[in-house]
Amino acid sequence: VTAGGAALSTAFTPSGTYLDAATYGPAPETAVAPRQAATAHGAAGTYDPLSCDAVLDRARIMFARLVQAQPGDVAIGHQVSPMVSVVAGSLSPGACVLAAEGDFTSLLFPFAAAGHEVRTVPLDRLAEEVDSGTDVVAFSAVQSADGRVADLSAVAAAAHVHGALTVLDATQACGWLPVDAQQFDVVVVGGYKWLCHPRGTAFMVVGAVTRDRLRAVNAGWYAGERPWETCYGLPLRQAADARRFDVSPAWFLWHAALPALELLTRSASIASTITTWGWPIGSARALGCRRLTRRSSRSPPTPMRATGWPPPGSAPRSAPAGSESAPSLQR
Ligand SMILES: Cc1ncc(COP(=O)(O)O)c(C=O)c1O
Repeated sequence: VTAGGAALSTAFTPSGTYLDAATYGPAPETAVAPRQAATAHGAAGTYDPLSCDAVLDRARIMFARLVQAQPGDVAIGHQVSPMVSVVAGSLSPGACVLAAEGDFTSLLFPFAAAGHEVRTVPLDRLAEEVDSGTDVVAFSAVQSADGRVADLSAVAAAAHVHGALTVLDATQACGWLPVDAQQFDVVVVGGYKWLCHPRGTAFMVVGAVTRDRLRAVNAGWYAGERPWETCYGLPLRQAADARRFDVSPAWFLWHAALPALELLTRSASIASTITTWGWPIGSARALGCRRLTRRSSRSPPTPMRATGWPPPGSAPRSAPAGSESAPSLQR
């Protein structure tokens, strides 16, 4: 399978068969040199911070294409939880947030820490549990813990009927599962998993109507319309579009994020068809174990033999190595 002429199966160069993108996605080969160059320029004192702005402009376009959004609706940041905190910090005190039991804490904690009432229900009951008392439905497209995929359309439809704000965490989805950001009010995505970005890169999609309902509680100098011209003093001068939710970028990392995005967006449907790293990605995804590698060990992980592959199209899973949820691995 190729993406814009480049074979995806040769775009990554892991030392062995890599199955752990649910923990972090490996950098494609094309991302290595730009990151090294940025780091080297930083060491030499020759890095031009303005060069990151052009990279971000392009990254917003690429990411928007991936999730069917407008580039002006895309904000950038570092991690998921501060982005969710923007929503949590914008709600009326004691708002009622509906969430899935056992969802990832970077999605749940910001609401709980802000003092909102977070009600959790089983993932497969999320849509039917939305009612007129629900202010927000916050859920992951794919559960980090066990790979279950939410019924995105059903939840979006139920929330729409009851006027609830939807916050989708697509961190475990974007890059392999098609996501239509227009179905949701807010979409947050950490870049370092299936988007194969360095850790410390994240996106938030907020459309025009929703962003006027939110307060940019993390606003810093990069939230400005022309950040370099408004570094000092008041009044508050925020970007008109979703860039008002930007947090100033971790410069060097974005130089590696962009080539990864370009690679992924060149592939129309990365979801179910590509073969990469020597394994059908659907199978790798189904396995997708969080801690396949032995982190405490200094030696490389022992190669694993996999049996009884689940069918392609299964979701990524984050399972502790040795748990019952990863029984098909044999050393
Ligand atoms: C669903 C989900 N969201 C977010 C994250 C990462 O959160 P943060 O960017 O706050 O570290 C993870 C990491 O495992 C995740 O699985």
